[in-house]
Formats: sequence, structure tokens, C-alpha cells
Amino acid sequence: MFINFWYVAAESSEVTYKPVKTTMLGQEFVLWRDKAGKVNCISNTCTHRGGAMAEGRIQGDCIECPYHGWTFNGEGECVRLPSIASDKKIPARAHIDAYPVEEKYGLIFTFLGDLPEEERPPIIDIPEYDDEKWICAMLKVDWKIDYKRSLENTMDPAHNEFTHPTHGFLGVKDEYTVADITLIEKEWGTGFMNPMYTPPLANEAMREASGRTEDAWSEAGAGNHGVNCTWTFIHPTEKASMHNYMLHTPIHEKLDRIYVLMLRNFLTEERHNQTFIDRGVFIAEQDRVVLETINPILTPRANTKEVLVPADKAVARYRELYREWQAKGWRIDVKKMHRDEDEIAYAIPSPGRRKSKNWALDAVPLIPGDASESLKTAAE
Ligand code: FES
Ligand SMILES: [Fe+2]
Repeated sequence: MFINFWYVAAESSEVTYKPVKTTMLGQEFVLWRDKAGKVNCISNTCTHRGGAMAEGRIQGDCIECPYHGWTFNGEGECVRLPSIASDKKIPARAHIDAYPVEEKYGLIFTFLGDLPEEERPPIIDIPEYDDEKWICAMLKVDWKIDYKRSLENTMDPAHNEFTHPTHGFLGVKDEYTVADITLIEKEWGTGFMNPMYTPPLANEAMREASGRTEDAWSEAGAGNHGVNCTWTFIHPTEKASMHNYMLHTPIHEKLDRIYVLMLRNFLTEERHNQTFIDRGVFIAEQDRVVLETINPILTPRANTKEVLVPADKAVARYRELYREWQAKGWRIDVKKMHRDEDEIAYAIPSPGRRKSKNWALDAVPLIPGDASESLKTAAE
């Protein structure tokens, strides 16, 4: 798991004027909406004696710990410490890590890391979301997998024929191959668009609206944005397009919460959303069955522990990219984090840690960037 990316913490509708606990990257957070409607996100661990902030209550725009009533604002600053006289100074070290929050696409994004604003990878761009010719339906699933396995699956054109028989791909064509992949490189990801010989859409309403009832070459592709998001573009005909964006939040290294934003420019009345959601669930289940049984659960540290072929080109490039982010020191040392978890309360380092060194909680252990190359070679 990696710090310094935006992760979806919740749907917008799930966070109101009361504390909501959530787990991301193996750590707990509390979210709440203040009176002006702004969402705050801080670490769930009180710096006094470890109280769980999400069990407390909202006071004004702040949150109060249930144990001794220390109260924190959305910046994580302790603004009330009831056991000391009100004219005594509250120790600066009482502050809790607070994380940047943005609401977009009906979701609450939290930046889990310490990078200053100008260095942060952007939230994935979904231009269709605000385009009136498109409509969005959302699906949310929790899978017992390493989220990276799912990103790789999305960028893997060879699995459709075998994992998704209900697309009309039956795994029976002797001449089946995957066209060469030409990677499209972007600042925070890679991807490709490929011609794909495909049957018509299986659902009758979708098929009629797409305007194609025979097998034909269509265009489809996928790619990643950052370590935890993918895009999939499917263009069954020139006039019908489906663009799916999968935003992954690792609850921990073996549990992946996936928010799937399914956008389309045909059958755009809201009443068709359920058809697309049902279809999405059906297809996602086919992926889940395969992914939850992969061995090992976690993506191997070295590509040599698997046999990659040209159809895995985007998968291999994604692995290169996240090793670059690992080399920057952004990868959590999960083994160390678990080894210490009964004794040490960790927090994901927030941007505030670049301004002050004075924190009660330890930042989660990270694999040192300069060590990651030798670590990779050792694994190989
Ligand atoms: S543990 Fe939170 S106020 Fe004491
Ligand atoms: Fe799939």
C-alpha cells in the first residue's frame, strides 16, 4: 500500500454532521461534516491516551474525544483540553494528523500522505461526469484481494475471452490472440486502446441502443491513474460509449473497496441505471471469483516469480510505475506495521508533518526509497 495518493473515504451521502469511522491503508480515520458542509478527515486516534475519536461527538465544527473530552478542529488542532485551566496553553504536540479532503463525483476523496499541495498527484479526471450527454451509475464492492491485482486485471485484455463468457467471449476460438499493445503514457499512468473483435452487447436494451447486432471490431482499452485508479473505455459502436472508472481504496492490504463509476452516452435516462448496475455486478462477480483465488494474494515483488507475456505489457508497466513510487519512499512497510500493531498506534503522515516535527503518534513505517531498488533485486 502507498501513501501520497487520493483515496475515496466514503460516498458524499454517507458523511453528515456526525462522526463516521473508516479504515484505509490499514489505519483508522474519522470523517465528519461541519456546519458549513465541509468534510473533515483526521486520524481516529486521540493523542492523549489513544481514545477512538469516532466514538465521540461533534461539538460546533469540531470533534470531541469520548474519553476526556479533548476537542479537535478539522485541521487536527486541539482547541479544548478540559482537564487544564482555560488560561493554560494547550501543548502543540496534542495535534492529530488531518488530511486534505475534496468532494467530487459524489465521493469524498482524502489525500493520505504528506506531500505539499503542488506535488500531489491529481484526483483522477472524469470529464464525462459533468457532460450532459453522459450519465453515471455507481457500484461499490468489497473484494478480499490485493487491490493491485484488480488494477492489473482491468489492464489485462487477455482475460476477457476466458473470465467473461457472458460477454459472448467463450474461450472457444482457436485463433484467439490479443493484438499488440501500444502503451499510451501519461504523467501518472499508462494504458492502451486496442481493436477487439467482439460480439454484440448481451443485454437486449443495451444492444438495440448501441446500434450493433452482429460481431464486429470495436475499440476498447484501459489504463491506470496513480497506484489505485483505472479507466476502461469500451466503444461498441461509433455512437455508443461506456467509460468505467474504478477507484480503489485498500481497507488493508488484503481487502479492496472499489467504487466503480460507470458512465455511458446511450440509454441516458436514469431509469436505465439499474440495468447497467446489474450488468456491472454480474461481470464484476466473474472477475472477483478469479481474483479472490489468485496465489499468492499479494502481487509478487518480482516479475520473475510469474511468466509475463506481451499481453501483460500494461500490467508490467504498471508494476514499473509503482516501483518508481516505491523508490520515492511512498510504500508502507506492511510487515513492520503489523508486527508493531499491538504496541504502537500509527498514523498516515499528513502534510502537517512537513511543517512540524512534533507529533505524538509515529508515522506508519515506510520502505525507505533508496532501499527499494536493492530490496527488489534481493527478491529477484
Ligand atoms: S484519550 Fe482522548 S481525551 Fe483522553
Ligand atoms: Fe474482467
